[in-house]
Amino acid sequence: MTILLNKPVAPCLKTMATYLEQVNASDWYTKFGPLHQKLTYKLEEYLEVKNLLLVSNGTLALQVTYKALGVKRAICTPFSYIATASSLAWDKIPTSFVDIDLNSLNLCPSLVDKKLEGSSDFDSIIATHVYGNPCAVESFDSLSSKYNVKVIYDAAHAFGVRYGEKSLLRFGDASTLSFNATKVFHTIEGGAIIFKETEVYEKAKQLINFSIDSNGTPTGAGINAVLNEYQCAVGLTLLDNIDNILDHRRIIFNEYTKLLGSLVELPIWNENTSLTNGSYFPVILKNELEKNRIKTLLDGHDIPCREYFSPSLNMVFKPEDACPVSQSIASRILCLPLHFYLTLDEVRHISRVIKESRK
Ligand SMILES: Cc1ncc(COP(=O)(O)O)c(C=O)c1O
Repeated sequence: MTILLNKPVAPCLKTMATYLEQVNASDWYTKFGPLHQKLTYKLEEYLEVKNLLLVSNGTLALQVTYKALGVKRAICTPFSYIATASSLAWDKIPTSFVDIDLNSLNLCPSLVDKKLEGSSDFDSIIATHVYGNPCAVESFDSLSSKYNVKVIYDAAHAFGVRYGEKSLLRFGDASTLSFNATKVFHTIEGGAIIFKETEVYEKAKQLINFSIDSNGTPTGAGINAVLNEYQCAVGLTLLDNIDNILDHRRIIFNEYTKLLGSLVELPIWNENTSLTNGSYFPVILKNELEKNRIKTLLDGHDIPCREYFSPSLNMVFKPEDACPVSQSIASRILCLPLHFYLTLDEVRHISRVIKESRK
């Protein structure tokens, strides 16, 4: 069997064709066209959020958010995909990295508290819901009030995750999503931002269209980050099937947990998570040597895996901000194959190979 690390969900061509015909008939290919409006509405409904702005990828989602919220100095998690921090560096936003919690692998609120206590320079916290595992959102809410700082969640992994009674995406001043083809839900390339305040949403909507206002007048610096109509057609097509996609991913995730939970260390899920999305299956090994051994073993069985995330982002952007927990985890974590087409048999085979290595 050929096992793939990831395999993007292919949109049904028949359904796609009906959407694409609508685009061709409307002559409206981009800039907030009818499918853009429809996808926005359907996603808001599905995710139970308001003020959702579609954008052309998850990295621009972060950059536009920083701009719309006026981020000037940020505290950022070191354990995330490179885009979370490179988008800050790209905009020359001074950033400090604060370490993660050893159990959840998310930014540690008590360390952020200490950092904010010692300095009034920061105006924003950038935290990632790593692998779709919710951050300590209530603690970050408290820090936001205590120090008057904004909280931005990189929620690229958290599509469909629910926290208590509501969508995880409703926490913070903004949450950003990536709709890259490798993600749970995708538009090939794409993303979205969910803003708490309608005013900021309106501002961001102008920013992603060259800062042109509703009268057609440019009002300052802007960028082009609009999702086009063909990509919205992909999103609408896949959204029809999203419950199946999420259900399958959860089944795979649960099977891995059952088979490997006692053999390897796993991140500890936030206990208030009421619905997961099975976006990734990370395993934490004892040390780097052990990680390399398991990786070589999996390679030998043609089983791909990914050192995700590695390196720890402080080491790329600001090595003087030591983050020992993040650095340690980055050196010994592996993500196993997980996608809509992965079968339970494949999960059992992968788990067996890892189990054999333990003997
Ligand atoms: C946590 C995180 N943030 C941001 C991004 C960037 O998203 P995109 O690839 O859509 O620009 C990704 C993509 O993998 C991600 O995993």
